Amino acid sequence: MNLPLTLPEPSRTRDNPGPWWRDAVIYQVYVRSFADGNGDGVGDLLGIRTRLPYLRDLGVDALWITPFYASPMADGGYDVADYRAVDPTLGTLGDIDALVREAHALGLRVIVDIVPNHTSDRHAWFREALAAAPGDAARERYMFRDGRGADGELPPNDWESVFGGPAWTRVPDGSWYLHLFAPEQPDLNWHHPEVRAEFLDILAFWLNLGVDGFRIDVAHGMFKEPTLADIGHDRQISLLGTQALPYFDRDEVHEIYRDWRALLDTYPGDRVAVAEAWVPDAARLALYLRPDELHQAFNFHYLGTDWSAPAFRAVVDDSLAAVADVGAPATWVLSNHDVQRHVTRYGGGPLGQARARAAVLLTLALPGSAYLYQGEELGLPEVTDLPDEVLQDPQWERSGHTDRGRDGCRVPIPWDGTEAPFGFGPPGSRQSWLPVPADWQGLSVQAQRGRPDSMLELYREALRLRRALPGLGGGTLRWIDAPDGCLAFERGAEFVCVVNFGDAPVTIPAYGRQLLAGAPLVAAEAGGVLLPADTAVWWERTAE
Ligand code: NOJ
Repeated sequence: MNLPLTLPEPSRTRDNPGPWWRDAVIYQVYVRSFADGNGDGVGDLLGIRTRLPYLRDLGVDALWITPFYASPMADGGYDVADYRAVDPTLGTLGDIDALVREAHALGLRVIVDIVPNHTSDRHAWFREALAAAPGDAARERYMFRDGRGADGELPPNDWESVFGGPAWTRVPDGSWYLHLFAPEQPDLNWHHPEVRAEFLDILAFWLNLGVDGFRIDVAHGMFKEPTLADIGHDRQISLLGTQALPYFDRDEVHEIYRDWRALLDTYPGDRVAVAEAWVPDAARLALYLRPDELHQAFNFHYLGTDWSAPAFRAVVDDSLAAVADVGAPATWVLSNHDVQRHVTRYGGGPLGQARARAAVLLTLALPGSAYLYQGEELGLPEVTDLPDEVLQDPQWERSGHTDRGRDGCRVPIPWDGTEAPFGFGPPGSRQSWLPVPADWQGLSVQAQRGRPDSMLELYREALRLRRALPGLGGGTLRWIDAPDGCLAFERGAEFVCVVNFGDAPVTIPAYGRQLLAGAPLVAAEAGGVLLPADTAVWWERTAE
């Protein structure tokens, strides 16, 4: 099943001396919600295959596909029962093989998800562990412990699951096992040599099939503080990504990535690994990006930044400084399948749309690589009124129905037509695993394509320019003077980006030829232009 690894790069015109991933734009496909090829209401690999030309035309370099492996779907596929099999609801191994070939033929690379912190409770290893007696070697691949209290009736410590409730579940013989996520996702014991060997073999399996890399789920997990001491804090999830936690971001985890990098480097074609690592600061994140470890990490600090010029300037500076020390490219991300969609985060409605337009122009102008989440190119908002009975995210149950979870950003993509779910499935299919809002017709791909003021056309044009302009992609930026509430920077001698984060128009110089703006600019006094509130503009600097 090996594929040729020299990809055509049909539309790449920009100077790009380094490997492809250093300035790639990577589109995240949440498989169950992207496109349904067989009409059962759940997105699948066949659906992705039929929509690959859409991604090529959008102008991205690669897609990252969330887990499609055999899974009981207790956490949308992040509970893997067999890492070398495709879930029958999502397709077959033949489908993923064909998908990779077809993507490559279109000049698109393919990154797949790998979930090493935990398996499904239906994984053969966990079944074997449950069938074994306490203390049996079969349990050592996971984190089984005795409980506390007179009869061991209390969990071994006070650690909380990221999804709410204790991070421990008791099995009928009285032992407890650790699960930092749902009980259906038991944590692996990464001190066990078989665990380490197994994941190297799984990586090789997918590399041999031809994938271009991996997105590593909970890349900051795997090793836990060995004494399993209490934390003494009753909302541990609120500390995630801002403070040290004893089960995340431990130094031992870097040994794994050195092994993985060595394996990746034996394959031709610049295979890449990107870390999902929620760590307290950019400096800790940079450790994952040392030259013998991973290639990229998601920049969640950027995603979480409040809409203000000083905040964005600080996060851009911090991010660039942190990766510069290790020689890795910065990455930029605004949304993914775990967070509220950014149109809504930025205020929703016309305000959220305007800010989202500005945010993508800022993001795609920054040095490094960018990740887009499916549907953001359509300006999809978070769906906040899903009925209780359709919610599937384990956060909903685990939080005792206080946290509605992440389903609101996972609603299927509207493609075309006049009735929900707007072409999500094949012609005639009306099913979708989450209901698509009846008023999303105007947000569909069909409704936006060719409409110059649409979000979709803004993304397409920004991506086209990003490929065409030598100053964009990799490299550095230089801040230039900007009015209060604005940021302005140059990329090379010829490109300028200005973003107005404020709520009133500001006068800025006309830097040359206007390439692209989130909203129309009008002429102002002294040869300047008026940049509307919450708007960004790209200029090609011309000689004065
Ligand atoms: C991060 C994934 O993005 C999320 O969707 C999942 O629930 C957790 N890791 C657990 O695997």
